[in-house]
Amino acid sequence: MSHRGYPKGEDSLESAAFTQSGVQGAGGVPGVLGPASFYRDGGARAIMRAANFPDELLPFLQMEGLAAMDAVCRHECDSLVELGCYDGRALEVARAAGVRYLGVDVNPGAIDSLNRRIGDEGLGDRARAVLGDALHCQEWSSEVTGERPLHLLPFNLVGNFTEPEKVLAGVGGLGGLALISVFNEEPWTTEVRRAYYTACGIGIVEEVPGPYGGVLFRGDQGFRSQSFSSRGVADLLSATGAATVRERTHRLGRCITVRLT
Ligand SMILES: C[S@@+](CC[C@H](N)C(=O)[O-])C[C@H]1O[C@@H](n2cnc3c(N)ncnc32)[C@H](O)[C@@H]1O
Repeated sequence: MSHRGYPKGEDSLESAAFTQSGVQGAGGVPGVLGPASFYRDGGARAIMRAANFPDELLPFLQMEGLAAMDAVCRHECDSLVELGCYDGRALEVARAAGVRYLGVDVNPGAIDSLNRRIGDEGLGDRARAVLGDALHCQEWSSEVTGERPLHLLPFNLVGNFTEPEKVLAGVGGLGGLALISVFNEEPWTTEVRRAYYTACGIGIVEEVPGPYGGVLFRGDQGFRSQSFSSRGVADLLSATGAATVRERTHRLGRCITVRLT
């Protein structure tokens, strides 16, 4: 393990960037490292590593996969676009549903290994992973194939953004449906998240009420993640003109299928 518990590996080769000054963070403040920088520079390996997940997280993730499968089938989607894909967990959904898959992530090591896996499994004609930022759809939108995509924003990805409404507005411009999975504000969820982030080696520097009714964790190295109350989700969706099509709830959070405009 490297310092602060991040595993050594191809991602961590760039970890010196954590300490560079003058780096533009995703929050747009020069010199302050933001969430995208955290994930690009090695944090993704820690936060997406199943060995760091408290057991209680697994059924939540299972609900997410089932919700994605249901949305693809119910709405006859012809492709699945997974933002913050890391190792491509929704690739299995796309494979089972027989639709195309595009994975997008800011972490270069994750994209390389997912493309290797896609090749090894003989899925190269219907699946692909590209390096890109969910906030900047123009970087990767030309890679989306199909006319009825489902955009999956998994595992509280929207909670990583300082302005989650911007990522939804950007994805909304691409049309189709989105499935958004978020943690809720309940105290037991906050406890599970605290244990999860700590297991990832993140030094928590702040745990405060977030702008969408949930709990905002800020950690060292630019980590940032907020959860959402039911009212907070409603506010977020109405700020982006999104209409809820279906919602599933779980003890730890909710998965909402929306039509973005
Ligand atoms: C799905 S989120 C998980 C968030 C975490 N579960 C939490 O509680 O905050 C993490 C994945 O999203 C990716 N990611 C983070 N910010 C991103 C961005 N702006 N664009 C694309 N991928 C991003 C990371 O590299 C990582 O693979």
